[in-house]
Amino acid sequence: MADAFFAALPDAYEVTRLDLMQEGLGPLVGEYFWERERLIQSGELSHDRFRYARQLARADLVVFAAPFWDLGFPALLKIYIEQVSVDGITFGCDARGLHGLCRAEHCVFLTTRGGCYKAQPELEQGSRYLDALHTFFGFGDYTCVAADGLDSEGVDASAVLEKACRQAQELAMSL
Ligand SMILES: Cc1cc2nc3c(=O)[nH]c(=O)nc-3n(C[C@H](O)[C@H](O)[C@H](O)COP(=O)(O)O)c2cc1C
Repeated sequence: MADAFFAALPDAYEVTRLDLMQEGLGPLVGEYFWERERLIQSGELSHDRFRYARQLARADLVVFAAPFWDLGFPALLKIYIEQVSVDGITFGCDARGLHGLCRAEHCVFLTTRGGCYKAQPELEQGSRYLDALHTFFGFGDYTCVAADGLDSEGVDASAVLEKACRQAQELAMSL
């Protein structure tokens, strides 16, 4: 789906692909957590560890591509979100409350699901989380394209995936 999306994206976009499986990201624990707190408190936002947050904040378009795991998305994506949720870079806080600092006008989520959650949407926590995150970070709008029911009996998975790829392409062409 991501391949279909990016193949159809207008040339005006300069695409940077971040393969989270290659980045060696770790969770915010122990000294790694405290270093972050100290750096944010002292305003050292140019520190190298905040490079992912700076990259996200200046993107014009943000695309997440991840499968549906355990009613949400894989933990690796949550670890990335921990990395990029930096006060002063991707969001800010003042007397009025929280506000997003990211410039992207669009946030897109491409996902593949084993089941189908239309009848029980409250069980679907991946797209709903990223939708909330788009508000938190200040992205202009949010669209999810999902291939549902890929592991379900009686579902023609190839046809579902093909349709989702077409939707992803159409979305890319509209941006
Ligand atoms: C660790 C793991 C957890 C999964 N959890 C769910 C789940 O909670 N609900 C569901 O419908 N499918 C679940 N699945 C099935 C995947 O969503 C499905 O196989 C996937 O979308 C296929 O996409 P892919 O080929 O891009 O990995 C899970 C699969 C794995 C490997």
